[in-house]
Amino acid sequence: MNFSLILPNLDRPPASPQFVNCYSESSQGQAASAARELAEGLSAGAATVPPKYFYNALGSKLFEAITGLNEYYPTRTEASIFDAAHPQIARALAKAGIAQPSLIDLGAGNCAKATRLIPHLQPRQYVPVDISVDFLRSAAQQVQTAFPALDIVGVGMDFSAGLALPPQVQAHDRVFFYPGSSLGNFSPDQALTFLRHMADPAQGKARGLLLGIDLVKDPATLKAAYDDALGVTAAFNKNLLLHVNALLGADFDVAQWQHVALFNEAESRIEMHLQAQCDLTVRWLEGERAFRAGESIHTENSYKYTVASISALLRRAGFTQISYWTDPKDWFAVFWASV
Ligand code: AVJ
Repeated sequence: MNFSLILPNLDRPPASPQFVNCYSESSQGQAASAARELAEGLSAGAATVPPKYFYNALGSKLFEAITGLNEYYPTRTEASIFDAAHPQIARALAKAGIAQPSLIDLGAGNCAKATRLIPHLQPRQYVPVDISVDFLRSAAQQVQTAFPALDIVGVGMDFSAGLALPPQVQAHDRVFFYPGSSLGNFSPDQALTFLRHMADPAQGKARGLLLGIDLVKDPATLKAAYDDALGVTAAFNKNLLLHVNALLGADFDVAQWQHVALFNEAESRIEMHLQAQCDLTVRWLEGERAFRAGESIHTENSYKYTVASISALLRRAGFTQISYWTDPKDWFAVFWASV
């Protein structure tokens, strides 16, 4: 009897993902910087908390729930564009001279979007990058199970601070994957700086960006996507206060705050705020802030582009070849930009 068919092949164990932690500070140092950043934002004349603080464990789950809401069209619309455009995207990469790319997934999260893309793009390497390495570990392991031969390098870093990737990342044929309109969290100036990092020759000779971006549309549709009837986005917004309580040792009472979402047409952005419902004082270890009823904390900007405005930004960043695909209603766009 020949057992070789049923015994595992011990000569070639399945590949397993590598992980690189790119934080320069210790976890204590990181906690101290977060506390400093939060105290500074809360103490400013117009109080702010950066949107990255939405994503504690519960916040990530609430965001996942948002993507399943009828009002929140971006996720499903983007998926439908990718489904229809896969062959054309693969051809665009080939035309840019990109053969066996490293697919660099910015804000990979559960890696679900890249998992659907990988069979079409056939990358040599997959690099999921996320602010939370712990969340990445299990996700990257699942990708490895689905694609046993793929070289996977998980990178833990806050890429909003820069895009210096570790040496484990293939130096040539880099394809940045930035879906979900996450670029919209940056101001157009910050977005330009970030896009310039991707177009930079330091990223290798052949390089490109696959970008998903939400488009300007009627304000009622935009507003509903950020103020859904079930109140999931309201919970997502208020949960930020619980995260701040944990990080800063603050005493926010969630019940005293109301979710506000509006479309600022002049700035072409959705704004989310948390509005105090009564006069109150928030205290933390080394400070406090009084809020009058109606005063608010600005928690997020989500910029909306037109095909013309995002194309212009990509060109200013140094990309020269630009293609895009949209859904039939022109609600969302997927861009391929290469140098
Ligand atoms: C993850 C930044 C793309 O702006 O639509 C969803 C976050 N905020 N609902 C977005 C978000 C409220 C989302 N991004």
